[in-house]
Amino acid sequence: MMKIEENKLLTLVNAAKEGFENAYAPYSNFHVGAAALTANGKVVKGCNVENASYGLTVCAERNCLAQGVISGEKSFSAIVIYTNQEKLTPPCGACRQVIVEFLAPDALVMAVNHNNDKKQWTVNELLPDAFTPKDLLEI
Ligand code: THU
Repeated sequence: MMKIEENKLLTLVNAAKEGFENAYAPYSNFHVGAAALTANGKVVKGCNVENASYGLTVCAERNCLAQGVISGEKSFSAIVIYTNQEKLTPPCGACRQVIVEFLAPDALVMAVNHNNDKKQWTVNELLPDAFTPKDLLEI
């Protein structure tokens, strides 16, 4: 697993919590925040954004990575997911696929909650044998 400095990790947890505070989740009431560390050392954050047309909901992780891309970042070394659930929240399947697009297989994915319980995975542990840009046909 890629090593992330303890102070960077703390910054990520705090940023993910800030994202959490802005979650728009009036339908599920399941608030999620995320923060990612860019390869250039910057921190970007996101939250889940739900919609009255439920299926249009976008998770915190995908909004976070999109926020990074919007600010010109396409490579990230870690992503943190924050909730206030007793049970830690792992990224959903769709988010795992998007995480694979922008983080290395040995990059850190960490779930954390309001009790500061933590669980860590590598990207590869969450989505082994992933379909990646390298699997596309050369055209
Ligand atoms: N959600 C996330 O934002 N990230 C996750 O890792 C799990 C699920 C959101 C989607 C939806 O707004 C709510 O949590 C309940 O599924």
